[in-house]
Amino acid sequence: MRNTFNIDRIAFIGRTFAEYISLFDLCEKTLRHGPVLDCPAGSASFTAEAHKSGIDVTACDILFGSDVNSLIEKGRKDIQHIYEKVSEATHLFNWDYYGSIENLIALRESALDLFAGDFTDGYREGRYRYAKLPHLPFPGNHFSLVLSSHFLFLYSDRLGFDFHMECIKEFVRVCSGEIRIYPLTTLDARPCPYLNDIIVSLRSSGIDVEITRVPFEFQKGSGRMMKIICR
Ligand SMILES: C[S@@+](CC[C@H](N)C(=O)[O-])C[C@H]1O[C@@H](n2cnc3c(N)ncnc32)[C@H](O)[C@@H]1O
Repeated sequence: MRNTFNIDRIAFIGRTFAEYISLFDLCEKTLRHGPVLDCPAGSASFTAEAHKSGIDVTACDILFGSDVNSLIEKGRKDIQHIYEKVSEATHLFNWDYYGSIENLIALRESALDLFAGDFTDGYREGRYRYAKLPHLPFPGNHFSLVLSSHFLFLYSDRLGFDFHMECIKEFVRVCSGEIRIYPLTTLDARPCPYLNDIIVSLRSSGIDVEITRVPFEFQKGSGRMMKIICR
């Protein structure tokens, strides 16, 4: 067993709709209030499942634009990488939600399958869009809800303070309602070293930031999200 968890890439993996509901503490009313953005979405099935139930949702990722077979191949490789790394350090995680590493991997595979089944049509319809953060290809105030999980803060060993500020300000530009970002911890489950500086800096720019608890904690200590109310 290792006492650290790290991965060598920003993984192209994704979570299911049910996982998003828990980790962002979402309710139906918030999701149906207006257009929703998931960015970066990876191979999450949130968009596929939400779209099927009539929610207006768009997913963005730097890899959207690749063909679906390359995305499936990359998704499978990255799930395997996560499996190996989590197996080496299972004690660093809280297993209440998943129960076992086998269930965790089964959910990642099921998300990838649902995502892949929706991607080609969804890309043509504009529900999956290429975006390279910190820039988004949308007009101002376009979304009522922006969701961003397992990217900002998590990879703060390789994405710096300035990049985080630019991404969050870009989310604020395209959002007229609420932004939710999860988790606030790094891959090795430590608080992001410049989280407080980001909060102070956003507040000093007049941005309304709150940190709230969520009913989900896989990495120990990661049960909080950042919520920004756009006015
Ligand atoms: C872990 S995945 C996100 C998963 C998803 N949000 C979830 O929680 O299930 C991180 C994603 O960030 C994407 N990515 C990396 N750099 C990016 C950038 N500059 N702009 C947009 N997406 C980026 C990767 O391609 C990868 O799919």
